[in-house]
Amino acid sequence: MTRILGIETSCDETAAAVVEDRGRVLSSVVASQEDVHAKYGGIVPELASRRHVEAIGPVVTEALERAGTDLDGVDAVAVTQGPGLVGSLLVGVCAAKAIAWRRGLPLLAVNHLEGHIRSPFLEHPEIAFPAIALVVSGGHTQLYLCPQEGVYRTLARTRDDAAGEAFDKVARLLGLGYPGGPEIDRVSEGADETAHDFPRAAMKDRSIDFSFSGLKTAVRRRAESLGIARAGALDGEPSRQVRDLVASFQRAVVDALVETTVLACRREAVRTVLVAGGVACNRRLRAAFEDAASRWGLSVFLPSPKYTTDNAAMIAGAGFLHLERGERAGLGLNADPNLRL
Ligand code: KG4
Ligand code: ZN
Repeated sequence: MTRILGIETSCDETAAAVVEDRGRVLSSVVASQEDVHAKYGGIVPELASRRHVEAIGPVVTEALERAGTDLDGVDAVAVTQGPGLVGSLLVGVCAAKAIAWRRGLPLLAVNHLEGHIRSPFLEHPEIAFPAIALVVSGGHTQLYLCPQEGVYRTLARTRDDAAGEAFDKVARLLGLGYPGGPEIDRVSEGADETAHDFPRAAMKDRSIDFSFSGLKTAVRRRAESLGIARAGALDGEPSRQVRDLVASFQRAVVDALVETTVLACRREAVRTVLVAGGVACNRRLRAAFEDAASRWGLSVFLPSPKYTTDNAAMIAGAGFLHLERGERAGLGLNADPNLRL
């Protein structure tokens, strides 16, 4: 029996988790900072770092307690090295180094994106390779081919905004709450998603890269011509017009993500799909992937919402791959805000 303590502080969530034997989650604690950043309509990096400093100790203690263990019962410490906000990452990296040094434990450096890709395995250890992995979060929209465990080849990335970023920006321009993704998901329910037909981005080359900034601009122009920019802020619940507009935007994003993923599956002759990252919480996206699975004979794995948004169980889960391969980070480990997978 092997247990890994995972630590994740790349963005605005302070998280710690204890995971046993590759994927059994004993505890997963996430302290969100949404209240800190909501009034600014986006993450303020300096405030994020300070809140991580306050939260990291109690969050690690709580993760150990909920797992019914202490540091004596842990075999290694896995931490997010990057990508992310450097000041935020440093808090987790320093905490993990201190624990590893004090206890003589192996230190495992995990790429945040690899963590997201491993998240479906926490609930589905049976997933087989090859697989195509779609990571859709606030900072990333990437499609990978994973021919075998621990190998990631980029097939597509976003040329401009990430999908989650597009959700957040569109919500902000219409005066909906922060973060925008969950809010758009909520108010789109029951709205007419065919009210507006937004253009799909198509690359000039054979590339299947994503692009969402043109769509965001199209939504802004439509909102302006309808006279509803920032309309959501005026009253409690957005109007029918705003709801139809964001539902149509959501449909365009979902179609682009699902169609590109299916195209990649067909090109690469792969039938297993992993979908991860905060945007994978989106109910319209989940339903569209389930439709695509039955239509194209694919096995699509979507983690439960608690493992799609940032968490440390996915970091501990990815840590097992490094532990098994004998990869150890030294105590000189540094945060890398631009770390590539
Ligand atoms: O993975 P994540 O928690 O953090 C990053 O690594 O970025 O993703 C956060 C992003 C935000 O942009 C948020 O608006 C989006 O995920 N998101 C959603 C939903 N829940 C979170 N987007 C659409 N629909 C949702 N239900
Ligand atoms: Zn993330």
